Amino acid sequence: CGIAGITGTDDAGRALVDALARLEYRGYDSAGIATHAPDGIEVRKSVGSVAALAALGSPGGERRSGIAHTRWATHGAPSTRNAHPHLSHDGTTALVHNGTVRNVARLRGELTDRGMATTSDTDSEVLVHLIAWHRAQGVDALEAVRLTLARVDGDYAVLVITADRPGTLIAAASGSPLLIGTDGRAVHVASDRAALSSGCTHCSPVLDGEVVAVTAAVPAGRTWEALTPGTTWTDKGSYPNFLLKEINEQPQTSRAAIGALFSPVAEGSAADWGSALDRSAVKRVCFLGCGSSYYAGQVAASFVENLARIPATAEPAAEFTQRDPVVEPDCLYVLISQSGETLDTLHAHRFLRRHPVQVLSIVNVRGSSLDRESDASIPLYAGAEVSVASTKVVTNMQIAGLALASWLARADYGSKSAALLELDLALPILPTILADLLAGQDAEIRALAESVHAFRSMYYLGRGPSWPVAREGAQKIKEISYIHAEAYQASELKHGPLALVDPDHVSVVVAANDAGGQQSATLIGQIQARGGAVVVFSQHQDYEFDAPTVRLPAVHPLLDHIVMGVALQVFAYHTATILDRDVDRPRNLAKSVTVE
Ligand code: G6P
Repeated sequence: CGIAGITGTDDAGRALVDALARLEYRGYDSAGIATHAPDGIEVRKSVGSVAALAALGSPGGERRSGIAHTRWATHGAPSTRNAHPHLSHDGTTALVHNGTVRNVARLRGELTDRGMATTSDTDSEVLVHLIAWHRAQGVDALEAVRLTLARVDGDYAVLVITADRPGTLIAAASGSPLLIGTDGRAVHVASDRAALSSGCTHCSPVLDGEVVAVTAAVPAGRTWEALTPGTTWTDKGSYPNFLLKEINEQPQTSRAAIGALFSPVAEGSAADWGSALDRSAVKRVCFLGCGSSYYAGQVAASFVENLARIPATAEPAAEFTQRDPVVEPDCLYVLISQSGETLDTLHAHRFLRRHPVQVLSIVNVRGSSLDRESDASIPLYAGAEVSVASTKVVTNMQIAGLALASWLARADYGSKSAALLELDLALPILPTILADLLAGQDAEIRALAESVHAFRSMYYLGRGPSWPVAREGAQKIKEISYIHAEAYQASELKHGPLALVDPDHVSVVVAANDAGGQQSATLIGQIQARGGAVVVFSQHQDYEFDAPTVRLPAVHPLLDHIVMGVALQVFAYHTATILDRDVDRPRNLAKSVTVE
């Protein structure tokens, strides 16, 4: 979910709708705004995208302040009833909320006992009624918010407006991010910095446990950080959607990451984050992240094993904390996140920080919660990523994995090993290879997508380091095309999954230029013998497979996985657009999931 607020503007209604458009990647099943109107608080909500809310028209009259929310449903189905802002029964208080009220049943019960029944299925609504109840007892607005939040079990970020204080927003946060920004005229609030207006020059996080009144006079006594231009919102230019733009930015974004992360001195180089770590104490590495970031971590783990010969694994961040893990003192834990706001990843990070272990972050959004809370972090130089499906950032996460693996290997071998020298030579070519692939093989990949788009079910099959690449490929296709897709280690196919292979099923074989890739011929034969369809992405230069094949360049054994990943992004993109899907905003998903 995403939160926005503004005060000190001439047209709060329009500014809030603009802010919601920037926040849509955090949820888009319903949206709403509440503004200070001349005669009280006016709330407007709608189901569906922010465009549906905008279509309701701007609130009439002068509106200088208000709050807004875009929702990713957790408690209750998408509906106007469940959409935020929630309004108190007496109409004096409106609230937007991110987070989870774990003790909602108890608080709801107390309200019912006081004759203040809730009308939505959300956990958030109880907060607005509790605030209104405190106010009815004569408590001032700020204190009423404080008393209410003190009762909450769970993380939260909230914005509240009350009818008696036009121009004032009450902001509070604990464990969930909220930022105050200023553009020199109006004061903005947003649940992450990418959603702050591009006009904002400075921002200041609402601190954990803080409850603060925000007015048009820039709040005094805060620590302000200058915002780097380009780190906030971006537009899609001439592209039909953000996904295609972001896929096509990869030659530039990968070049930026390689340039910085492999430089001897630049910000983001090993000289920067490596100095915060004790290499000699690292005997294993564990990558933790969610979704595509987890798969990128799995690819990075294979890089660490390959280059540095250090055991490395990857695990979903939430599963790690939930299983009460043995925290190994000689393990370097690496948290990976595009947004730096995924709550499951933040929880894993906070959990590890309570242990005497080395922790490193790989994070794209500078100044995000994960970035701020980290002693050492590798920046990704991918720029703002808007489309829900992660592409250019996943690629740069793998480049960061290579930078980490190289640092671990270099420290081990003293001078550069032959493998590192080879990698150093090949890396600068990667952006050009990606540019050639995107420009030169797009039509071929689209033709392959044409041949599979009508299938209802897919396997993605890869061996060894190609397995996480296949997993990310399957993730992409299910996220944006809604075709059921599972990835398996190719060797496992015959041990169970083969039962589902029939003429209605297509397998995407990921054949790298390695020993595993060579075995693909046998695999393809096994599938075809059961009537299953097969398409192949191959990096083998001399192997011919008996199935429709897109042949990709092979540049270096490790970089090939990155090239393959980009080809699978293009494949998913075309499959989804042939099926006429909304590729930027796939159903049920949000780009940044800030609840458990
Ligand atoms: C969400 C998105 C995924 C993303 C994951 C982790 O579930 O839909 O695309 O990979 O969060 O996000 P992060 O910002 O932590 O990388």
